[in-house]
Amino acid sequence: MTSATDPTPEDFANMGIDEAMIKKFVTHFYDVVHGDKILGPYFHHQMEATWDQHLEKMCNFWSAILLKTHRFNGRPVPAHTKLTGLQQSDFLHWLVTFEKTIKHCCTPEVVPHIMKKAHMIANSLQYGVFYRPELMKDKYNLD
Ligand code: HEM
Repeated sequence: MTSATDPTPEDFANMGIDEAMIKKFVTHFYDVVHGDKILGPYFHHQMEATWDQHLEKMCNFWSAILLKTHRFNGRPVPAHTKLTGLQQSDFLHWLVTFEKTIKHCCTPEVVPHIMKKAHMIANSLQYGVFYRPELMKDKYNLD
C-alpha cells in the first residue's frame, strides 16, 4: 500500500501529522459518522467494541498507516464482512464524508496524501467484502 512517491513518516511529521492530529481527525470523523443516516446505524447496531475502544483502535490504525508505528493489529475485512446490508455505495459515502473531515481538520498539503491511502484501503476492503469467486464458479461451471 505504499509507492515510491508516498511521503515517508518523517515527511508526514513535517507536514504536521502526529498522534494529536490523528486523534483530532478520528474523533471528528466518528462524531459525524455517529449522526450520519447511512453510516451511523452500522455502528449503533453492529459494533462489538465500545465507542471509546473503537476510537482508540482507529487512532492506532491511522498511526500505523501514516506514521508506520505498527500499532494496529486488527482484521478489517472480517470486521466489515459481518456488517449486514453493507453496500458498495456506502464506501463512496464514507470517502466523501471522510474527505470533508480531513479538509476540516488537517492542512491542505496533507489532504491528497491521506485521501490516497483512504481510497486504496476502501478499494481493497470492497474487494475483500464483495468478491464472490463461488458465483463465477457456478455461472461458468468451473471446478
Ligand atoms: C461503508 C463504509 C464503512 C462502514 C459502514 C464501516 C463500519 C465499520 C464498523 C461498524 C466497524 C466496527 C466493527 C466492530 O468492531 O465490530 C468498523 C471497523 C473498522 N473500520 Fe470500517 N467501515 C466502513 C469503511 C471503512 C474504511 C473505508 C476504512 C479504512 C479506510 C475502515 C476502517 C476500519 C477499521 C481499521 C476498523 C477496525 C477493524 C478491526 O476491528 O480490526 N472502514 N467499520
